[in-house]
Amino acid sequence: MGNTFGKAFSITTWGESHGPAVGVVIDGCPPGLELSEADIQHELDRRRPGQSEVATPRKEEDKVEILSGVFEGKTTGTPIAMLVRNKDADSSKYDLIKDTPRPGHADYTYQMKYGIRDHRGGGRSSARETIGRVAAGAVAKKILARHGIEILAHVVELGGIKASPVQVDDIKANIESNPVRCADLEAAKAMLERVKHVREDKDSIGGIVEIIALGVPPGLGEPVFDKLDADLAGALMGIGAVKGIEVGSGFAAAAMTGSQMNDPFEVQDGRVVCSTNNAGGILGGISSGETIVCRIAVKPTPSIARPQNTVDMSNMSGTEIIIEGRHDPTIPPRIVPVAEAMMALVLADHMLRSQ
Ligand SMILES: Cc1cc2nc3c(=O)[nH]c(=O)nc-3n(C[C@H](O)[C@H](O)[C@H](O)COP(=O)(O)O)c2cc1C
Repeated sequence: MGNTFGKAFSITTWGESHGPAVGVVIDGCPPGLELSEADIQHELDRRRPGQSEVATPRKEEDKVEILSGVFEGKTTGTPIAMLVRNKDADSSKYDLIKDTPRPGHADYTYQMKYGIRDHRGGGRSSARETIGRVAAGAVAKKILARHGIEILAHVVELGGIKASPVQVDDIKANIESNPVRCADLEAAKAMLERVKHVREDKDSIGGIVEIIALGVPPGLGEPVFDKLDADLAGALMGIGAVKGIEVGSGFAAAAMTGSQMNDPFEVQDGRVVCSTNNAGGILGGISSGETIVCRIAVKPTPSIARPQNTVDMSNMSGTEIIIEGRHDPTIPPRIVPVAEAMMALVLADHMLRSQ
């Protein structure tokens, strides 16, 4: 089964898009961590649908309830169960996809694997599943903050529009200042126009999101099969719509020479540091102490309102589908808090394993 993630800090997500609720159970959270619903809510509000003009208009409050594992404001070391009730589910638009799989979505493969599925709102393959990840990621972020580790994600490309490189301070200041979550504000404006245009055109666009971790000490990662980069790749690729991941220079490394790629070591204030960071903060599957840098390629939203060819599996004939329901015209801005959560879960897991 693939619903559980992590070894020392382990999470299990559960729930479907139009079921009564979605949620997560965390096992392995250390006792004594101050934790309130407000800590979780902040991250869920960043993930919530209906929050901006570039997100699905589904109106959900996404209020988290902590059911266990927290007593008098502190974690007890026992499993932490959290849930969010689904309130604004409109299943009427989804009868269409019961027997008629959406091109690019998971309807066909879920049906072939399980022979039964809750098709309403995409069921388990819906992005509502990511609520559990984001809630657990908020706890992981609190554990990491104790060690001075901070995680940030931002959109660096949308619909082919590329952002200019930015400083960390710009990312911190700007990611929540615009609906596309791009720290280059000029590019953000052009991206927003592109999203509006593509939505009017009944189409969708994808993009690239960069996720960085600041303050990670050297030594996290468990060679050989649980290398830090391998676990980050698995965690980030495990988010719906992610089609590629790179660490540091990533695919560009293939065209570089060794002398261009290698990050020279030097001593600064008695510490070994690198003067460049093509490795993206990981060497041999172990964190080097430099900033960890990953980028994910996110595909265009599969549910688009244009006519598309598909099949009717009830009578095995060809047909056409025009998808209804409420969908994100583009996913990267909404994936930002989810990607941060997945990186936090991996780093918290490795931090606890290293102890
Ligand atoms: C935050 C987020 C929001 C998403 N929103 C939508 C959406 O509104 N409509 C849709 O069809 N897919 C959406 N997706 C993508 C689907 O969940 C995903 O494409 C589908 O499960 C198939 O998986 P795959 O693309 O990884 O193959 C979203 C994904 C994420 C992570």
